[in-house]
Amino acid sequence: MRYNEAAKLRYEWDTKTGQPVNILAIESSCDETAAAVVQNGRVILSSVIASQIATHQQFGGVVPEVASRVHVESITRVVEEALQEAKLTLADLHAVAVTYAPGLIGALFVGVTAAKSYAQALGIPLIGVHHLAGHMAAAHLSEGVDPPFLALVVSGGHTELLKVETGGVMTRLGQTRDDAAGEAFDKIARALALGYPGGPAIQKAAEAGNPQAIEFPRAKLPEGSFDFSFSGLKSSVMLYLDRRAKAGMPVDQADVAASFQMAVMEALIDKTRQALKATGMTTLVLAGGVAANTLLRRRVGELGGELGVRVVVPPLWLCTDNAAMIGAAAYPRYLQGRLSDLRLTAQANLRLEDW
Ligand code: KG4
Ligand code: ZN
Repeated sequence: MRYNEAAKLRYEWDTKTGQPVNILAIESSCDETAAAVVQNGRVILSSVIASQIATHQQFGGVVPEVASRVHVESITRVVEEALQEAKLTLADLHAVAVTYAPGLIGALFVGVTAAKSYAQALGIPLIGVHHLAGHMAAAHLSEGVDPPFLALVVSGGHTELLKVETGGVMTRLGQTRDDAAGEAFDKIARALALGYPGGPAIQKAAEAGNPQAIEFPRAKLPEGSFDFSFSGLKSSVMLYLDRRAKAGMPVDQADVAASFQMAVMEALIDKTRQALKATGMTTLVLAGGVAANTLLRRRVGELGGELGVRVVVPPLWLCTDNAAMIGAAAYPRYLQGRLSDLRLTAQANLRLEDW
């Protein structure tokens, strides 16, 4: 029997019997090889993350070719560990979910190929997941939040404000016009010789600094726009460091880190406040790697208090890349019967609205 028919039959059978649905999820869009088993989109039976941070640290950032190679080396082991941790065998799985976009193309390719192989070998449905939908689903995993809500998704590749309506229809209200917030953290951390990944390093350095010490400029975007821009801020920090170096003056790393971090967070909070007011949304979901930032977590909490809005912030380990969030995002698609097939291919770019 061909794969499509086998998966369809299996799907029809499984959805009729009403048993718990175990989804094996795979995530390999950047520098973590991750696999998880998620039951009914809510219960994390296992979550394994093999981080490549130590490998990329020696290069000062993610090297795409190296990332792909390490994914290839780790993927089978990570999936096996996820099954073991879940105390399940391959026969207990009902579907395979995988991040297929957006991200590093070679890295995505490894996860997609593995997921297709498992789905085909087992004759079970395959579900391609958009990475940002995964990040948003982390909130659902931690607190059970259903649309409608406003989502601020901040990662190494994206900075977006999304309106998610009942039924899951998404409208992008704003996005970065240049660098993503996480990308700006990574670049400034490199300039300050704080290493990779930059977000946690800047946050740590900022603890000892004064956020008012240096007045870095805030982007001036038109009133009514919910877009972000971080390249001006990044350039002004670089210029500041350059001027100090040329003048032979010392740089207070902690003050630079604290002032830069404050400027990024103020921009994120300002636009989120405006978007909440404009849409009248009463729930805010924070998602993505930068959502691990302590200052941002505190500021969104305060914003919720100020506007009387429910704020959902996933635990730290669900903010940065993991596969559990991919399994959670795949589940509604599974229920709706919106399945992928073996034509699924990795895509470096894909708008969330087009998923
Ligand atoms: O979501 P993620 O794990 O991968 C992408 O989808 O990009 O996000 C990684 C990004 C990196 O840019 C990293 O520096 C940033 O999230 N990040 C942070 C923090 N932890 C991670 N940025 C600011 N503060 C943090 N504590
Ligand atoms: Zn991510």
